[in-house]
Amino acid sequence: MDKNVAIIGASGAIGNAFVEHYSDDQSVNKVFAFSRKKQSYENKKVQSFELDIENQNSIQDAAEKIKENRLNHIIVATGVLHSESFGPEKSIKDINHDSMTKVMSVNTIGPSLVGRYFIPLLTKDTKSVMAFLSARVGSISDNKLGGWYSYRASKTALNQIIKNFSIELKRTNPNAIVLGLQPGTVDSNLSEPFKKNVAKGKLFTPEQSRELLSDVIENATTKDSGNLLAYDGETISP
Ligand SMILES: NC(=O)c1ccc[n+]([C@@H]2O[C@H](COP(=O)([O-])OP(=O)(O)OC[C@H]3O[C@@H](n4cnc5c(N)ncnc54)[C@H](OP(=O)(O)O)[C@@H]3O)[C@@H](O)[C@H]2O)c1
Repeated sequence: MDKNVAIIGASGAIGNAFVEHYSDDQSVNKVFAFSRKKQSYENKKVQSFELDIENQNSIQDAAEKIKENRLNHIIVATGVLHSESFGPEKSIKDINHDSMTKVMSVNTIGPSLVGRYFIPLLTKDTKSVMAFLSARVGSISDNKLGGWYSYRASKTALNQIIKNFSIELKRTNPNAIVLGLQPGTVDSNLSEPFKKNVAKGKLFTPEQSRELLSDVIENATTKDSGNLLAYDGETISP
């Protein structure tokens, strides 16, 4: 009962699955759950805080509130693919300033700032893991289909940020591991419009994905730091 964990994007399908899991984990002392709107949790070890991933001050204030604690795991599970006003681009003619700005802001800039303010809270004396939910479609070498310009590019850029974090942390906190995670296709608000394209049996529940990702996190070593790992442990080429 000595670990502390923080989940950013605790209201999302995957983020919430991590909150539930760590709440039941006897080795975890405190779960800090960050989301746009405060949530209520029955389990007393979970503390909910507001965090807007598109607002630097909000991210800084959120980290400030828990700064007396050292964190063993940080999971960043925020992300956007579509909203009421836009969907992922099917073609060049769909590229749009406002929607691309939004996607970059939520998927790349916000998580970078979470790194800035939360990385100093990682424990230094034992293994710690900061994991960012990314996506296989951010891999340039894996891009066979095209489309989804903003989402793909935002995750490619996130993967670069993750690599940079890992390089800097080798010097400042050698026990820290920074990972990108590909969760599979998971039943959530984010995947809702595209679920019908997923082959039967290939759509994970958030808990199925979480369980696989927890194994990846537990098995990760400093050699994996900076990489994008899939739910089955595969290292995805950039
Ligand atoms: N589902 C999949 O198939 C899939 C596949 C590959 C990668 N991923 C990645 O996995 C991650 C989690 O996705 P999910 O499937 O769990 O989606 P989800 O259920 O839609 O969750 C997305 C989360 O992001 C949060 N968020 C969005 N904008 C925010 C903002 N401005 N400030 C704070 N929080 C914000 C949402 O908060 P609110 O509740 O306040 O809206 C929600 O908690 C994402 O990074 C996604 O790209 C998912």
